[in-house]
Amino acid sequence: MSKTIAVIPGDGIGPEIMTATLRVLDALDCGLSYDFVDAGMVALEKHGDLLPKATLDKIAEHRVALKGPLTTPIGDGFTSVNVTLRRHFDLYANVRPALSFPGTKSRYENIDIITVRENTEGAYRSEGQTLSADGEIAESVARNTRKGSTRIVRYAFELAVKKGRKKVTAVHKANILKTSSGLFLNVAREIAKEYPQIEFNEMIVDNTCMQLVMKPEQFDVIVTTNLFGDILSDLCAGLVGGLGLAPGDNIGEHAAIFEAVHGSAPDIAGKGIANPCALLLAAADMLDYLDMVAKGDQLRQAIRDTMTNDRDSVTPDLGGKGSTSSFADAIVKRLAA
Ligand code: NAI
Ligand code: MG
Repeated sequence: MSKTIAVIPGDGIGPEIMTATLRVLDALDCGLSYDFVDAGMVALEKHGDLLPKATLDKIAEHRVALKGPLTTPIGDGFTSVNVTLRRHFDLYANVRPALSFPGTKSRYENIDIITVRENTEGAYRSEGQTLSADGEIAESVARNTRKGSTRIVRYAFELAVKKGRKKVTAVHKANILKTSSGLFLNVAREIAKEYPQIEFNEMIVDNTCMQLVMKPEQFDVIVTTNLFGDILSDLCAGLVGGLGLAPGDNIGEHAAIFEAVHGSAPDIAGKGIANPCALLLAAADMLDYLDMVAKGDQLRQAIRDTMTNDRDSVTPDLGGKGSTSSFADAIVKRLAA
């Protein structure tokens, strides 16, 4: 199969981990070609625009993008490029797998949780945020719609079916947030009936936090609204050893953007020690999305084998003495073996 994807190397450690990731993808021999486009600080410097129209056009054309982290400049007048991309392409499903790998600092060994977070509404709508003229009253209005709740819950169940998962947990706070969270929960209950083969349960978000820390093995697929999903998915990343291993997939009807959950890490940029795994795992999810599931699994297994057997080659955040490129070299070697 031959397929062209848009590639955004990104800022900070972005180009370093993207180079490593593309090298591994090439070694996997999955027939991908890359159309490189700019966004973030690189684009601002080159084109005077954080998110040039040409970049949006290329993503629209190829429908699939692999994206490095982007720095959002601090200060007025700059909206996050990430938020803009999610909105522009209506990438309503933010899928964040948390999977245990050997040799991390995690307390757990058998975590395999996918958080499916609603990515476009809830408490994160910029229109819903106001501050009174005297600066005394701040208001933030969460809005969940039946349409938005329906498509995210359906996405979670369809994902569960496709990946052979057993259980979907809807996380909510409908006992207090009776309307916004209540609507989401009602929709989840309705849709769950259409999937009798998947176990469905519901859990209040504060209890979910405790349960995730005490007994994470009970979770399989979690579906939730924007704010809760943001927080819970970072918690889940912490359960498996941190952001260096956390991919984030942004999926819509017409386009999908795969990225690492972490940012541009300016503190280690240019040092060659960034862990490429989060972006590599995002690339594995992208291969699943492109119906190359065997290749995606092969990549995850090669990462797992490298982390088990080539401890010296892994990056310092995982306790190794290696670099971004030695890590990638070791994975490429595993793929060739
Ligand atoms: P960050 O995720 O960039 O860094 C947090 C800490 O984790 C740092 O100590 C960093 O060195 C470490 N870290 C992150 N990724 C790593 C990797 N692959 N290997 C080893 N260590 C790693 O978060 P921070 O510092 O809050 O944000 C920096 C910039 O990134 C900001 O401009 C922010 O807006 C942007 N950002 C972009 C995101 C995106 O493009 N999706 C997501 C989050 C932040
Ligand atoms: Mg977050």
